[in-house]
Amino acid sequence: MAEEHSSDPVPADRTHGARHVAIIMDGNGRWAKKRFLPRVAGHKAGVEAVRRTARAARDMGLETLTLYAFSSENWKRPESEISDLMGMLRHFIERDLAEFEANNVRLKVIGNYRALEPSIVAMIDSAVSRTAGNGPTTVAIALNYGAQDELARAAQALARKAIAGELDPATIGPDDIAAQLDTADLPPLDLLIRTSGEKRLSNFLLWQAAYAELYFTDTLWPDFNGDILEQALVEFGQRERRYGGL
Ligand code: IPE
Ligand code: IPE
Ligand code: MG
Repeated sequence: MAEEHSSDPVPADRTHGARHVAIIMDGNGRWAKKRFLPRVAGHKAGVEAVRRTARAARDMGLETLTLYAFSSENWKRPESEISDLMGMLRHFIERDLAEFEANNVRLKVIGNYRALEPSIVAMIDSAVSRTAGNGPTTVAIALNYGAQDELARAAQALARKAIAGELDPATIGPDDIAAQLDTADLPPLDLLIRTSGEKRLSNFLLWQAAYAELYFTDTLWPDFNGDILEQALVEFGQRERRYGGL
């Protein structure tokens, strides 16, 4: 293929070829504990880290940043913490939607967010539709997200199509499943980062992570920033992805 901008100076590819980075934002509680603060203070500082990281992703021209904000298992936490987190979500949308709009960032939500409080669902739907035409950067927030739940919902959708006679079960393949996932319109996952030193997926993007590169950092989420994202991307650029081949 012909080079499109052969006369232009070559811009540094700050994403190192990654199109889709996802982050398991972990360690808010431990960040607060270290400072003898209540857990909610860690979540507040975590929201600041979301802001910084979303700005960095947009500035480097990353196509998609997916952030794990609330899992389908996080309902096991005390009611007061859940209500703090939902309050912060509301506040984040109220305060940051204008910045998303001004910076041409598309907001997307993955997960079964429709099970959240109706007023939050309405805020999300409105924010998502107001930024729907934006690009090139999408920030996808995972809310009430669990990969097993996402796959079960995909199975339900395929079963409904089969019963309606629109789909022959014998022909169902990986692409049909991928097309039913919440991430269907996003690029393939390239890099999955988890902060706070934990090394597990906690039910995040199990299908999408099939060939993603994994990056673990001991940094607690409230201390995360664009420089750490860039470090992860530099390492990503040095990895050799083989996809089962040679
Ligand atoms: C991640 O931080 C944020 C959410 C899961 C909402 P944690 O709240 O899990 O913090 P730790 O793991 O207790 O330090
Ligand atoms: C994963 O963190 C969920 C989010 C970051 C939203 P958790 O803190 O809930 O994960 P576990 O319980 O340590 O596996
Ligand atoms: Mg945690």
